[in-house]
Amino acid sequence: MCFLMLNYAVLCSARGEVNFLEEMLKRLEKILNAYHGDKGTLIPILQEIQGEFGYLPEELFSEVARFSGISQNEIYGVATFYTQFRFTPPAEHTVKVCLGTACHVRGGADILDAVERELSIQQGGITSDRKFGLERVACFGCCALAPVMVVDDNVYAKMTGTKAKQILMEYGWKDKKA
Ligand code: FES
Repeated sequence: MCFLMLNYAVLCSARGEVNFLEEMLKRLEKILNAYHGDKGTLIPILQEIQGEFGYLPEELFSEVARFSGISQNEIYGVATFYTQFRFTPPAEHTVKVCLGTACHVRGGADILDAVERELSIQQGGITSDRKFGLERVACFGCCALAPVMVVDDNVYAKMTGTKAKQILMEYGWKDKKA
């Protein structure tokens, strides 16, 4: 039996979320089992956890600490150092607006402004219904299409504020003025 099993009851009863935490710990166990005996694998482990859950659930840090021999504080320090890691669940749809040079000179900041106004959030934020998250990006590598916006994995070229709003509505955004 894996050592993780020993901690299920403690963690779960403390939070009163037995099924939810049990499920998370089982999924974590599968990830960690692939790293037995490997030292110096904290970042790949964190990447896999984020790949599995979409973010780094802090409830799992104690198990990662126990497994890796690295303190929770240190794990938290590593995770916060790298911008690739997030600590909250992602929104249903992630909207990314490019502010790289090519997009910026073609109005990327106006696109970001328009999306921020429409969703009533700032870049880095998530709408209250967790349907949309907004991020800015330095370059998507498709500068000929500038200004560029990406929703989930879909790239939208030659953006305008009006087009951005229409695209958001295709993903379920409700126009409050309609
Ligand atoms: S600068 Fe926007 S895609 Fe390159």
